[in-house]
This record gives sequence, C-alpha cells and structure tokens, in this order.
Amino acid sequence: MDRSGVLTPTTTASSRLGPRDPEFCTATRSKGRGSPWAKDCAASDDRERSGWGDEATVSAYVSNFGPVSDEIAQVLAARAARSELTVLDLCCGHGALTAMLCQAGANVFGIDLSDKMLERARRAAPRATFIKCDAAQLPFQEEAFDAVVCNFGMLHLSHRARSLAEVRRVLRPGGDFLTATWAIPQASNAFGIMLDAIRAHADLACAPHQPDFFALARASTAQKMMAGAGLRLTAHDEMTPLLRLQHPDELFTIFLTATVSVSMLIRSQPDEIVARIRRDVAAAVAANCTAGGGYLVPLPVVIMSASRT
Ligand SMILES: C[S@@+](CC[C@H](N)C(=O)[O-])C[C@H]1O[C@@H](n2cnc3c(N)ncnc32)[C@H](O)[C@@H]1O
Repeated sequence: MDRSGVLTPTTTASSRLGPRDPEFCTATRSKGRGSPWAKDCAASDDRERSGWGDEATVSAYVSNFGPVSDEIAQVLAARAARSELTVLDLCCGHGALTAMLCQAGANVFGIDLSDKMLERARRAAPRATFIKCDAAQLPFQEEAFDAVVCNFGMLHLSHRARSLAEVRRVLRPGGDFLTATWAIPQASNAFGIMLDAIRAHADLACAPHQPDFFALARASTAQKMMAGAGLRLTAHDEMTPLLRLQHPDELFTIFLTATVSVSMLIRSQPDEIVARIRRDVAAAVAANCTAGGGYLVPLPVVIMSASRT
C-alpha cells in the first residue's frame, strides 16, 4: 500500500440546547483571539478532549452507540470505498468505519484526538495508518485524498468552519466528503426524549456554551457551511436506526455514561433534578417505545455527501 505523498513533509502534528450559530455565536460576535467565542471554543475543546480521553466514556460509547454508529458506517463505507482509493476517516473513533474501508481495499488514514479511541482503532484496522491530531489542523498535503469520511465527528468539533476548510484542502478536485450526524430531535426519538426532559427540569443557565450539535442536520445550514468551505452539498438524507433497550431506564444511563456534553450537562445539575430527568426519560420510553418484550427507541441520523468544487 503506497502511503507516499499524503503526509506533509513537516507533520504538524450552542447552544444551551437551542439552535444557534454553528460555531457558538451570532454573526456579530467577535471571533478574534481572546474573544468570548475563542474562550468558548477552547472550553469546548477541553471538554471533548477530556471526555473522549476517558476509558469509561469510550467503552460506554462503543457498547451503546456502537451498533447504530457501525450500521451507519456501513452506509458511508459502501459509498466511499473502492479499492485503490486513498480515504481519510476524520474523527475515526474506535475505527469501525476505518476497518470497513480497509476491507474494501482502500488505502486508509484515520485521525482522532483520543488515545483511548485510537488504541481501539489500531486493533480494529491494523492495515490503516492512524495519527493523533485535531480535525482543524490536518497533517496532510493538499489534495492527498480521493474521499474523506466522518461518522458522528463533525458535531463534536468547535472549529467546524476551519475543519471543513481542512477537508476541502486535503480532498482532490471532485473528491467526496461523506458525513453522518444525529438528526434534529423530535419528542419521539432518543435525543428528543432526553433533551425535552432536560429542558423541563434543568437549570440551563449554568450549562456550558457549545457549538450547535444539530447544525449540520438542517439541510439549509449544512448547505451554507459546506459552501463556505468550498464544498457542494449533493445529498442530505435521513435514516432511522433503532436503539434496542431491555429497560426504559437504560436511555438515561446511556446518555449519562456514553456522551460527553449531554452527560456534563446532566452531571452539572443537583441530584433531585437529575432524578426528575431520569424519571421523565424512563416514562417517555415506556409510553412510546415498547416493542415485543423490550424497547426500540428511534435514533434518526442524517447522512450527507458533498463534493469538492
Ligand atoms: C462520537 S465519537 C465518533 C467515533 C466514530 N467515528 C464512530 O463511528 O462512532 C466522536 C469522535 O470525535 C473525536 N474528536 C472530537 N473532537 C475532535 C477533534 N477536534 N479532532 C479530532 N477528533 C476529535 C473524539 O475523540 C471521538 O473519537
């Protein structure tokens, strides 16, 4: 597998639950160094770094969201992978998508910030090349990749415009960017049930600022963000995988243990508020998601493609 010509010679390596600017703020807010925006970005980066650096969170993510994320990875891999192509898996996490791309014969690179995730990825896809780095500062040459994929990564990035510009920079002309993100929450789906209960009970004034988690799930915003980076949105489709639970209380536990920002928001609340959120979530799952002997909670996903203009 030829990996030459990809790495640069000098390897350099929110909302409070409501719709806001995809990168934290209103258009009028200063984005200079030392600005509140820059501080929000730094704080969000720190949370992501420490959250995904925690073995318990990584393990809970892989066990609980893994089946859904891997189902979507199969869709991305089927669209992106062909033998002989050189593909970048951005925010590769535990490496399930990386492994699928390798299996299809592609020459694959994976990047992520988390050592714990990268350890798993190296085991999952031993033929791929993994680099620990930030999605906003990729250590690759211009036009190094035929395709870039990102499964549930973009929503975690505080510097999305910069990261999308990096995606464009490393894509060859005409190359495709394929990415998946959680769809807009609805009362009857996993994020909707969870966020409705949080909104009903939590004190959101003390919630940390963070980028709009669902920005790319809105087709018009996705189109603008991609266009801003020189990428043309070509598809924006929804799929609805199901989260399989044995008990209605499991959904709350999954968000508490297997997420970074939602978990931090819950943990920032007093015990009696946490208990109310937990009770509402279990009640909503029991009322809306019963199936056979268990519970099936919709976890809708948006899959989008963009091509380098
Ligand atoms: C929800 S996980 C998705 C993992 C995987 N792609 C999957 O298919 O499930 C998000 C991943 O993004 C990574 N991440 C978060 N911020 C990042 C950044 N700024 N640069 C690179 N990776 C980042 C995390 O370490 C984590 O592995």
